[in-house]
Amino acid sequence: MGKAPIAIISKSCNCQSIVVFGSLPDPSNKQRTKNKKTMPHIINLPKIEDPRGNLSFIEELKHIPFKIERTYWIYDVPGGQVRGGHAFKEQQELIVALSGSFDVVVDDGRVKQTFSLNRSYYGLYVPSGLWRQMQNFSTNSLALVLSSTPYNEDDYIRDLEGYKTYRAL
Ligand code: TYD
Repeated sequence: MGKAPIAIISKSCNCQSIVVFGSLPDPSNKQRTKNKKTMPHIINLPKIEDPRGNLSFIEELKHIPFKIERTYWIYDVPGGQVRGGHAFKEQQELIVALSGSFDVVVDDGRVKQTFSLNRSYYGLYVPSGLWRQMQNFSTNSLALVLSSTPYNEDDYIRDLEGYKTYRAL
């Protein structure tokens, strides 16, 4: 396959905005199914609306395609700070903006997508092997991360050039 032309594609809906740098193929149905496991995408979580306050929930292997081995959260982020900025060889994750908003930039070494998270009933599924960083945190934002693995520093790729080499292998 030849090198993809550089283009900027913007997509938006009421839940997210995606800015893609690079070009994306138009997938067939078979490819779409495969993409669900290999491409980052928004998962609509259950939402029980109630005048007393709404409720959402996540069950492993039902709403997300992995078993939850670890949960962590990022909070009290000073304005302008960036978190993440690495890839995981094995870990899959779901990122939810439980409060406030932030952007997750996901990069496969060729295409970069920005997902703006600002609702607690949307989760961003990030498959293993992708570079991701979190930025543009709003005041008092709270980022919940569900992870498919226990913490393991050996699973991290923290060097972007090293990541590109890893992807090319
Ligand atoms: P890290 O994942 O490197 O976050 P960031 O890329 O945003 O800097 O984690 C920061 C530190 O926290 C790092 O020293 C490892 C530690 N940490 C744990 O001990 N357990 C965990 O589950 C996580 C996510 C991080």
